[in-house]
Amino acid sequence: MTPPERRTRGRTSRSRLRALDAYLYRCERALLERQDGEWREAAFVDVGFGEHPWTTLESAELFRELNPTLPVIGVEADEGRAAAAARHEEALTRFRHGGFDWASTAGQPVRLVRAMNILRQYRDEDVAAAHAELGRALLPGGLGVEGSTDVQGGITVAHLLRRTPEGLTREALLFHTDFHHGFAPVLFRDWLPRDLRRRVQPEEPIHAFFAAWTEAWQQAREQGAWEPRSAFQQSALQLAASAGGVSADAWLLERGYLRWQPSGGVPRPLSI
Ligand SMILES: C[S@@+](CC[C@H](N)C(=O)[O-])C[C@H]1O[C@@H](n2cnc3c(N)ncnc32)[C@H](O)[C@@H]1O
Repeated sequence: MTPPERRTRGRTSRSRLRALDAYLYRCERALLERQDGEWREAAFVDVGFGEHPWTTLESAELFRELNPTLPVIGVEADEGRAAAAARHEEALTRFRHGGFDWASTAGQPVRLVRAMNILRQYRDEDVAAAHAELGRALLPGGLGVEGSTDVQGGITVAHLLRRTPEGLTREALLFHTDFHHGFAPVLFRDWLPRDLRRRVQPEEPIHAFFAAWTEAWQQAREQGAWEPRSAFQQSALQLAASAGGVSADAWLLERGYLRWQPSGGVPRPLSI
């Protein structure tokens, strides 16, 4: 898939994807460490790293604590940005000019592919093809991460897409907040991944999820959980008890993460 015609803004900021990195470090450790067969050479590919490759380099540093020989490849549709990033290259870190399909066409085995803050510039109807292209290079069991954050990375929502023998599944939706803006479920609405962002509307499955979370949050507040962190944790626990697929893992909830992994996958919007 070709990116939008005009040169898109490449704005990024240091630490913007730290919360996502920390989640992957903790919850995808086996994926990052794996060394058998093709996995030994399997890369982390960061698609659309932006004007500066800060976030790629930060992830590389963290993930290499688990896997010191992890190949990391930053891919950019903007040729100038890809060329400028070359000064950060070293033996295991490379930067290339290309798009969502770069990894599958380059024949590079991939364990993890990330495309954060990219699809906001695309149309709704482009999302399924973009996911498919991102997923094509993944080894079975590999993970695709696509979503959005606010400018500083204090709010994140991302699709977790898993490559299975049947194809790429919409395994889970990951929410994270650092509580900088307080907490209410609605805070996440504007940072939903591209295909869900304008779908918090009656009849849409994502609307039902937000309605259940908002009700749980209101109940938590009625029970005295006013402080953002406790309102978040209590609402998430209540949601975990009432709705399927919400993780009650204490590590996640204490740090502002909610993972929704409905059986059957994260529902697609009703119509595109
Ligand atoms: C807003 S920046 C995001 C930077 C970084 N990923 C972050 O989350 O902060 C978006 C970048 O994606 C690049 N981009 C857009 N479509 C792309 C595509 N199909 N393949 C590779 N890069 C793309 C743009 O050129 C731009 O530099």
